[in-house]
Amino acid sequence: MLVRARMAHPHASPVLAFVERCAREAVEFMREEVTAFDLYLPDGSRELTDFLYSESKTARLFNSAIGEALRATIKELGGEAKREIAILEIGAGSGGTTTSIVPVASETCNAANVPFAYTYTDVSMYFAPKVKKRLAAFPEVQYRKLDLEADSLAQGFVAHTFDVIVAANVVHTTRDVVASMRNIASLLRPGGFVIVWELSSSRSWFDVTLGLLDGWNRHDDRFRRESPLLSASVWKEVFSAADFENVLALGGESASASQSLGQAILIGRTTAVTS
Ligand SMILES: C[S@@+](CC[C@H](N)C(=O)[O-])C[C@H]1O[C@@H](n2cnc3c(N)ncnc32)[C@H](O)[C@@H]1O
Repeated sequence: MLVRARMAHPHASPVLAFVERCAREAVEFMREEVTAFDLYLPDGSRELTDFLYSESKTARLFNSAIGEALRATIKELGGEAKREIAILEIGAGSGGTTTSIVPVASETCNAANVPFAYTYTDVSMYFAPKVKKRLAAFPEVQYRKLDLEADSLAQGFVAHTFDVIVAANVVHTTRDVVASMRNIASLLRPGGFVIVWELSSSRSWFDVTLGLLDGWNRHDDRFRRESPLLSASVWKEVFSAADFENVLALGGESASASQSLGQAILIGRTTAVTS
């Protein structure tokens, strides 16, 4: 079966190698001799994460759409106030999205003649040194730890200080998606934007691969039962429950699963202060 899949999808070899690794080492996994993390990042190899979040056709498409959404939000905010634009990324991990969108932020802010600050964060700093090397040309990027499930103020962040928050493939890993979106809202300025990229439908190979990771089955909220993933229309309800306005979904809903990329980008805005 894997041989056929390799012939049909030669570009997806890191994913097929992941499926094969998980199947081959299933017994060792059940005996707790290898962890899901060992299978996900064998010997610290970044081949799979680079493919999933940076190099695959889907990742390039979604990272470029997030870049365009960021460009549009900066133009709107930069036009309103000629001050520094503060961008926060949560769960930035391997930097697939970060390395794609920091140059867009830089170019857009330079053109508008406004400074910007970009804060890369993740619950773990495992990937940060490599991301820092790749973004050495951008001194505007700071690297900090942030756990989306814990009080962000207690972690040294200041309420309502960011203009745009980007969260790519991280909110679904948290226990309660509404609490996580509220935590995001608490960090945004009035009228600030959140841009979220999420898987929006399950694939059978997830069960025997990503499904082994601790983060996959932690969900415990009113929106999720079997799967940690939500369709774009349910994500819109989650955004509304966390008081985001003007929520827009790109992708994530299609007539048939085979036509869908199974991923979505959601954009929401916090209420602007009216005088
Ligand atoms: C599926 S990966 C996301 C990939 C990432 N956007 C990239 O381009 O590599 C999920 C990331 O979320 C991080 N994460 C998991 N739980 C988190 C939490 N509670 N707060 C912040 N980050 C978290 C993980 O460490 C991991 O880097």
